[in-house]
Amino acid sequence: MVADAAEAWPVVLRQSGAVLAAMTSGFDPSVPNMARVYNYWLDGKDNFPADRAEGERLLEIYPPLRDLVRENRAFVTRAVTYGAEQRISQFIDLGAGLPASPAIHQAARAVQPDARVAYVDADRVVLAHARALLATSDGVAAVDADLRDPAAVLGHPDLRAVIDPATPVCVIFGAVLHFLDADAACAVTAGYGCLMAPGSYMIISVACNDDEALAKRLSEEYTAATWHNHTREDVAEFFDGLEMVGPGVTEAKHWRPWTAEPALCSRQGHVLAGVGSLRDLHELETPAQSRGRGAGRRRPP
Ligand SMILES: C[S@@+](CC[C@H](N)C(=O)[O-])C[C@H]1O[C@@H](n2cnc3c(N)ncnc32)[C@H](O)[C@@H]1O
Repeated sequence: MVADAAEAWPVVLRQSGAVLAAMTSGFDPSVPNMARVYNYWLDGKDNFPADRAEGERLLEIYPPLRDLVRENRAFVTRAVTYGAEQRISQFIDLGAGLPASPAIHQAARAVQPDARVAYVDADRVVLAHARALLATSDGVAAVDADLRDPAAVLGHPDLRAVIDPATPVCVIFGAVLHFLDADAACAVTAGYGCLMAPGSYMIISVACNDDEALAKRLSEEYTAATWHNHTREDVAEFFDGLEMVGPGVTEAKHWRPWTAEPALCSRQGHVLAGVGSLRDLHELETPAQSRGRGAGRRRPP
């Protein structure tokens, strides 16, 4: 099934090519890097003065950013726990980022002790950390791949060493689809949706801002990557063809919270998040039909 679909699905590499080129052009501590700026906001130690300066500059413009990043990480942990509770024992973390606590394999193994995890990223520094700190036990791999190419990711030998895509998986897009424009993000999620086995889950979170002027300013000031301000409707479309579980697309902190629901506060910035499950809908249509459906659902440029 993966081989057939690999031919049917185009690689979505044209979009955001500049971002990937910047990520893979080598290690330069003097240039802000998206994984390291995020690590700074999470109070991590794997960042440099240029990353901290960029992180601080953005916090001055929008102070809740640090809360949003933490809410994102907490959501991903809860969603992975949920997936493991549904008896999923394979997890693919796309755009894994620098190690954070708990790591995906730790959260998954708290429920499924034999859970296997592939950490996928295209940043060689992230991969070096993943190999040294995460992929140290059986069933955990660091995979050097571009998440925009679903067939290449799922066919990658390092991923195949721990993941069998013919059986249900949980695919995680944590805080990464906002680095693709909405059309590319839709094509990428549809690509994975087409290749995943029935019974699989997809976890998505993206950072958004309701204030267009503020979003524009944040995007301009964020030099580590191109950030796209997706709408709630965009995020819902990323799940097209999947059945939403829990509350649907919602604020990350309101997705099946483990503690009492925090009071609603009016904030322009959000992490919109959700979890979708793949029933057997994709078996009812071919990739070509699905691609046609995808083309129709996007608004014109
Ligand atoms: C903000 S971090 C997200 C960290 C983590 N997923 C989380 O939710 O906490 C984004 C990561 O995505 C990676 N990334 C961005 N675009 C990518 C691409 N096209 N292919 C693979 N990795 C990518 C970056 O290198 C970075 O490590």
